[in-house]
Amino acid sequence: MHWKSSFAYAVALLGLAPTTEAANSVVFRDAQSGFTFTSFDAAFQIGRYLSYRVAIPANAAPGQPYDAVLQVVAPIDVGWAGFAWGGGMTRNPLAVNWASGSTPVVSPRWATSHSMPSTYSGATYQILSRASGVNGTHWKVTSLCRGCTSWAGSSGTVVLNPTGETRFAFAYSRVKPSGSSPDTSITVHSVTNSWMHDLNGAKNANFDELVEQNR
Ligand code: HEM
Ligand SMILES: *[C@@H]1O[C@H](CO)[C@@H](O)[C@H](O)[C@H]1NC(C)=O
Repeated sequence: MHWKSSFAYAVALLGLAPTTEAANSVVFRDAQSGFTFTSFDAAFQIGRYLSYRVAIPANAAPGQPYDAVLQVVAPIDVGWAGFAWGGGMTRNPLAVNWASGSTPVVSPRWATSHSMPSTYSGATYQILSRASGVNGTHWKVTSLCRGCTSWAGSSGTVVLNPTGETRFAFAYSRVKPSGSSPDTSITVHSVTNSWMHDLNGAKNANFDELVEQNR
């Protein structure tokens, strides 16, 4: 194996993007839940943003899967807000978030092509109800994910490096899925983008305790 291909393999294995780009995320402490997240505001229209936040346990170790908390905050008129743990649409765990009335919903999906992603059983999300909600202007969905930091990618097993940066992506749709079943059909997005997100700053020493408090 020559250097370039083994480097590419190591990059895929660690879930790192081959870039020296600085992270676009910032540290954000959510007063409602107590979690310290790293957060990225993704523009889906001029001057309008979806916030994508991730929190992980402080003891997450490189090369080993770990749990993660995902928090998505969206203006009330957003239909669904998707999050891609692998930074693109295909072959990585996707989370489709919406609010059905006052009920927060997150749906685990997987796509092998650029068509409607199907339900993904490799990841399970548990809504953290005390850290989720709907008010007059926004909906907020916070969930604990098992199975989102490692998966079988197109070139081997990916494990997101908890001490570094990784590429995440989002997708936005104006059209709200009907009801609160995670398996319901969704319409195609009208905006997507990706960014570099720092996971090292997302570490929480009291992760398990915070999860319990926010269930
Ligand atoms: C009915 C459902 C969906 C359809 C038909 C669909 C279709 C497509 C198509 C045709 C593209 C390439 C052209 C373009 O950029 O518009 C694309 C790109 C993309 N989609 Fe989807 N999509 C769907 C759902 C989702 C979901 C649920 C997510 C994330 C949770 C997502 C994330 C992305 C991203 C990040 C890109 C750009 C990067 C890439 O191509 O990998 N999509 N999608
Ligand atoms: C509504 O919820 C959003 C997201 O949690 C929050 O930023 C905003 O301050 C809330 N507005 C009011 C009036 O409580």
